[in-house]
Order: sequence, then C-alpha cells, then structure tokens
Amino acid sequence: MTASIALESATRDAPSQPFEIRRFDAPVGAEVVGLDIGRPINDTDFARIHRAHLDHHVLVFRDQRVSPADHVAFSRRFGPLEIHVLHQFQLKGHPEILIVSNIKENGEPIGLGDAGVYWHSDISYKEKPSLGSLLHAQELPSEGGDTLFADQHLAWEALDPALQQRILPLKAEHSYLAKYEELRAKNPWRPKLSQAQIDQVAPAVQPVVRTHPETGRKALFVSEHFTTRIVGLPQDESDALLAELFAHSVKPEFVYRHTWAPHDLVFWDNRSLMHLAAGTPDHLRRKLYRTTIQGDTPF
Ligand code: SIN
Repeated sequence: MTASIALESATRDAPSQPFEIRRFDAPVGAEVVGLDIGRPINDTDFARIHRAHLDHHVLVFRDQRVSPADHVAFSRRFGPLEIHVLHQFQLKGHPEILIVSNIKENGEPIGLGDAGVYWHSDISYKEKPSLGSLLHAQELPSEGGDTLFADQHLAWEALDPALQQRILPLKAEHSYLAKYEELRAKNPWRPKLSQAQIDQVAPAVQPVVRTHPETGRKALFVSEHFTTRIVGLPQDESDALLAELFAHSVKPEFVYRHTWAPHDLVFWDNRSLMHLAAGTPDHLRRKLYRTTIQGDTPF
C-alpha cells in the first residue's frame, strides 16, 4: 500500500468528531462548532459538512487553530485548488493560498489589500469559475473588517416573474480586468499585470442565471466587480439591466454579515453567493489566508 492510500483510508475510518451545525439568525449561513479541520475527518462527518454547505451556502468553522497545510488539505477534500493570478501574494511554500491583507512590511504590501471591495463571486471571469473559497483569519482588526454574503438563489426567486423570463436566456461577459485599473489608481501598490498574467484572465461569457450543479437551484450570476455587459444588448440597455440586477442582488433580505472571531475559517459557495469585504480602517491590521476551489462550467 502506498503512503497516500494508507493515509486516505486512515482518514476515511477516523473516529467521528462531535460537532454541531447551528443555523444563523440570518437569511443564509451557519456555524460549525466542535470540529477540528486539522484532524482526520471520516466520510460520515465529511458528508454532513458537505450537506450543510449545500443547505446553508456559507459555513463558519469556529476556532480553527490550524496550519496553512491543514487549510490546504481540508480545502482539497472539495476539489482541486486554483492558483490565483496575482502570484505576488501567494503564501511562501503554499502557492494555493492567496494572502488577503492590508499590512505593509518595509513599505511593501504582504497581500491583496483591496480584495473584495466590490460584490463578486470568485473567479467568475474564468470559463470554469470557483466552486467555493475558504478564508482563514490570521490577524483581525479591533473594528471593521466584516465580510458580507448575499444569497443569489433568494435574489433569483424574489425577482418579478416577467424579469425572470426576460433574463433567463441571457449571457453576460465577465472580466478580471473590468475594475483593475480603477483599483490600481486608488491603490498604487496593486501590481501592474504582466502580459502573461493578462493572458491568463481572458474574459469569459457566463449565463446570467446559473443552475447549481449539485442542488439544481437557480441563482443570479452577475456582479458589479466582474460583469461588463450583457451579450447581444446595446450598451445603454445592458448597463441599465445590469444596474437593476446589481441593486436587487444585494438587498439586505438576502445578506449575512460576518463579523470575524479569532481563528474563524469561513467556507462559502461561489455558485450560490456573492461576497463583499466591508473594509478595514487603514491604521488597523487585517490578514487572512484564502484557498479557492475549482468549479465547473456554469449552465
Ligand atoms: C475576498 O473577496 O476573497 C476577500 C473578502 C474579505 O477580505 O473579507
């Protein structure tokens, strides 16, 4: 038996961990209390977590005092991981981890400080956007730094039926570059992209309404960060429709606001949600590590 097969079967047969899944008093989300993702998770426990993720779309695993290697290994249970195009902000020794941070050391940013300042779903600009992302708190500010999640199934279901019929067949273009230069003008430390990086993020065309591949539920799939236009519509009509959908998709009745606690690991479903970083006062330090799971072509 090879070492990796032996390790896998030891994990599958590991003793159960006693943990609870508690739904938030919010439109979406639940917390997982009592599970240590750094310990082996057997198939039964993993199936429970997977089911809860599909039901609640965002899970907050409390008190995860785990290493980057544990974070990567747990993320990989859900699928292969993305390597973010901004390789400047990879964690040393762990290219699958993107550092999200406003901290500068010796005048240089250690991570992406303005990640998530516009509502978005991760990697929607690629032909195969992300299944989900896992963000692990390393250093938290004493105020600010919340992350908001908006349920795009609820957003779809609450749309006027005539508008639902109108947008169902539509497709939209998503581009990583849509707001890149605007963000760089505000945050000059944001790296200038090389031609190789630009080539990695060619725009993708996605359905405006996608179907979750595991639950079959429909979700709105446009974002103010990455969606540039509705394919086939004149620009003014496309702008007006997108503005209406952006405003609708993040109404308070679809949103859970996460206030971080030390060692939280937050795992959200990019096929169901959009998210937004609410912002941190400049003088306070914030650092988190993110892994991003590869997903399927939306339909
Ligand atoms: C992100 O968009 O991945 C970052 C969210 C956050 O920093 O709260």
